[in-house]
Amino acid sequence: MSERTTVTFIPGDGIGPEITAAMRRVVEATGVELSFDVQHAGDGAHRKLGHPVPAATIESLRRNKVGIKGPLIVPWRSPVVQLPGTEERYATPNAALRGACRAFANVRPARLFPGVPSRFQDVNVDMVVVREVSEGAYLGRERRIDADHAEATAATSRGGSERIARFGFELARKQGRGRVHAIHKANVFDQTDGLFLDAFYDVAKEYTEIEAVDIMIDASMAAMIRDPSQFDVIVAPNQYGDILSDLTAAIVGGLGMGPGANHGAEISVFEACHGAAPDIAGQGIANPMAVILSAAMMLDHLGHDDAATRVRSAVARFFVKGEGLTPDLGGSGTTQGVADRLVELLEQPPGAR
Ligand code: NAI
Repeated sequence: MSERTTVTFIPGDGIGPEITAAMRRVVEATGVELSFDVQHAGDGAHRKLGHPVPAATIESLRRNKVGIKGPLIVPWRSPVVQLPGTEERYATPNAALRGACRAFANVRPARLFPGVPSRFQDVNVDMVVVREVSEGAYLGRERRIDADHAEATAATSRGGSERIARFGFELARKQGRGRVHAIHKANVFDQTDGLFLDAFYDVAKEYTEIEAVDIMIDASMAAMIRDPSQFDVIVAPNQYGDILSDLTAAIVGGLGMGPGANHGAEISVFEACHGAAPDIAGQGIANPMAVILSAAMMLDHLGHDDAATRVRSAVARFFVKGEGLTPDLGGSGTTQGVADRLVELLEQPPGAR
C-alpha cells in the first residue's frame, strides 16, 4: 500500500476558497493518496484567529514540508506582519509566509496552451521566471523621513544571488532548457544589481552547455512583447521578477493562467501568481487554472509525475475543446464548471474528446 502524504492547505482570501476547492477536487480525481491539512492565513485568519500568519499554520508547513495556498489579502490597518514568537517583520502576509518557510525561489512557469485566447497563439511560448524572494527591494525596509520625504533600502548578497542563479541553471538543466536570462538594471543600480549580475555569470561557468545572457528589466519588457519565444528560463531579483511574471502570465492568457511555487531548502509552497481578486470574489467565476497548474507542480515535486502529467494533459484538452472558459478568458463558464470538466477529462483516456 502506498504511503499517504499530507500537505498543508491554505484556502486564503477573496477568490482563494473557490479556486482552491476546485483544485482540491481535481487533485483528488487523480487518485494520488494525499491528505490536506487545512490551515489559515491572510485577512480572514487575522479577523478570526487574531494573526494573519498564525503559529499553527507555520508549524503545519514545517511539519509537512509541502503546502498549497490561495492568495492572501493584507489585513486592513495591519501593514506590517510580525511572525509569531520572533522579531521578524514583513510587509505582507505572503512575504511573512515565505519568510517563515525560508523560501528564496519563486518559480512561475508561463506556457501557452493551444486554444487559450492570446495574441501570441502562433508563437511557441514556454518559459519559466525564477524570482528571488528572500532579499532585494521587498524587505519592507522603508521609512518616512518627514512629511515630504521617504526612502527604501534594497539588499543584495553574493550568497543569495548565487543561490538563485544556481537554482535557475539547475532548473534549466533538469528541464532540458538551453538558455538562462538574468534580469537587472545594473547601469543604474551598479552595486546591488551589479553584484547580482556578477554572481550570475560566476555560476554560469558551471553550466557551459547552457547559454547565459543578461538583459535590462526595461528592455526585457519590450523584448518579451516583441517575441516571447526568445525567453526560456529567466532569473530575476525580487521586484523585477514580480513585475515580469505578471507580464508573462498575461502573455499566456492572463493572471488566471499563471501557476507558481515558492521553494526554500526544506519547504515548498505552491500558489497561483495572482492575488485575491476581490472584484470577482464570491461570484464563482474565477479561473482556477493557475492554482490547478500549481497543484500539478506540487505533484511533480512530490514525485507523482504521472498524475502531474495527467492534470496538464486534461488542462490542454479542456482548452482544445474551448468550452466552459471563465469570463477572464472571454467565456461564461464557472470555477466549478472548469473543475467538473477537468475531473471528467481525468477519467477519460488521453485520446478521448
Ligand atoms: P489580483 O491579481 O487579485 O487581481 C488583478 C485583476 O486580475 C483583477 O481584475 C482580478 O479580477 C483578475 N484576476 C486575478 N486572478 C484571477 C483569476 N484566477 N480569475 C479571473 N480573474 C482574475 O491583484 P490585486 O487586485 O492587485 O490584488 C488584490 C489583493 O490580492 C490585494 O490585497 C493584494 O495584496 C493581494 N495579493 C496577494 C497575492 C498572494 O497572496 N500571492 C499576490 C498578489 C496580490
